[in-house]
Amino acid sequence: MKIYVFGVRGGDEEAPLKNWMAEHPEVEVGFTHDILTPDNANLAKGYDGVCSVQREPYAREALKMLHDYGISKLSVRNVGVDGFNFKDLNDFGFTLTNVPVYSPNAIAEHASFLVGRLLRRVPEFDDKFRAGNLKWSPTIGTEIAGKTVGVIGTGHIGSVFARIMQFGYGAKVIAYDIDPNPALENLGIYVDSLDELLAQADIISIHTPLAPQDYHMIDADAISKMKQGSYLINCARGGLVDTDALIAGLDSGKIAGAGLDVLDNENGIFQKDFGSFDAIPNEKFKNLASRDNVIITPHTAFYTKRAVHNMVYEAMDTQIKLLNGEITKNIVNTK
Ligand SMILES: NC(=O)c1ccc[n+]([C@@H]2O[C@H](COP(=O)([O-])OP(=O)(O)OC[C@H]3O[C@@H](n4cnc5c(N)ncnc54)[C@H](O)[C@@H]3O)[C@@H](O)[C@H]2O)c1
Repeated sequence: MKIYVFGVRGGDEEAPLKNWMAEHPEVEVGFTHDILTPDNANLAKGYDGVCSVQREPYAREALKMLHDYGISKLSVRNVGVDGFNFKDLNDFGFTLTNVPVYSPNAIAEHASFLVGRLLRRVPEFDDKFRAGNLKWSPTIGTEIAGKTVGVIGTGHIGSVFARIMQFGYGAKVIAYDIDPNPALENLGIYVDSLDELLAQADIISIHTPLAPQDYHMIDADAISKMKQGSYLINCARGGLVDTDALIAGLDSGKIAGAGLDVLDNENGIFQKDFGSFDAIPNEKFKNLASRDNVIITPHTAFYTKRAVHNMVYEAMDTQIKLLNGEITKNIVNTK
């Protein structure tokens, strides 16, 4: 069995891939650091299947070349499959798999750190520290214990976050989900509507997918229903929050602080090195990022050694299953 792997990041993916290869001497693996394009698709000639990851769209021509080499199994090492035109995949008879779950804790822990850093005013303390000011006053913090934390979406990630907040910090957790998680029913945390959650929560954390109907779930109307001085955390998808409405909410003080790992239109700026803050070509980003009460991380919540290991291993294991003709739970419905 021969698998060709595209887009292997040298800094973090190569080591787990080499470990996987050492554990599977029966599989012949070729790999490149470059993403799959029509210029290098020929590297996969003679291989049975392909494993890849990339932020850029997958070129039809590259997929056609794989098809012409007799390859029909493609496993991506991430969740998102929006880089594919499903028509291309179907035209060339591909079976596509992804890694839908790789480490919910990575994102849930990150969200909890954003809450902690905001409530203990870490950005302000960091500024003071760098300026040689080691006085605590007047940068007084707020405890999570006793606060009401509202979790929107209680699937893989939201359920871990809810437990961290409730059992780790002693918050009162409430949650809203269109399809409540049976594993959390015994906690008695569910409220019946998003409005109820918005009205009661001191800290709101979003953990839903971005379905078309949920675009700007948190807009000016939703913000108007929040408690005065609430905190908003978004480690889910940028499109769930209307950035203009968030900026207005911060300006008015309705929102006391925001922790954002994702932003609407983040694709133009995240994962790029601009050399300086001033050079970042996005005024809304700069507006948010220059506030003491906003913490932005550039979509790094998932980025842990454990998560990357799981993404590589799960995608490669899945590719073997596909090539052995087995059905796997990770097959993406491209129809
Ligand atoms: N920042 C990161 O690095 C990162 C990494 C992985 C996943 N994510 C994002 O985290 C989010 C959650 O991922 P997950 O794996 O927990 O998903 P999941 O599918 O396991 O859970 C999502 C939950 O949201 C609920 N839901 C859907 N629409 C809702 C709505 N309108 N209102 C309330 N609840 C709703 C679902 O019923 C489900 O319980 C997704 O947006 C995902 O893309 C972010």
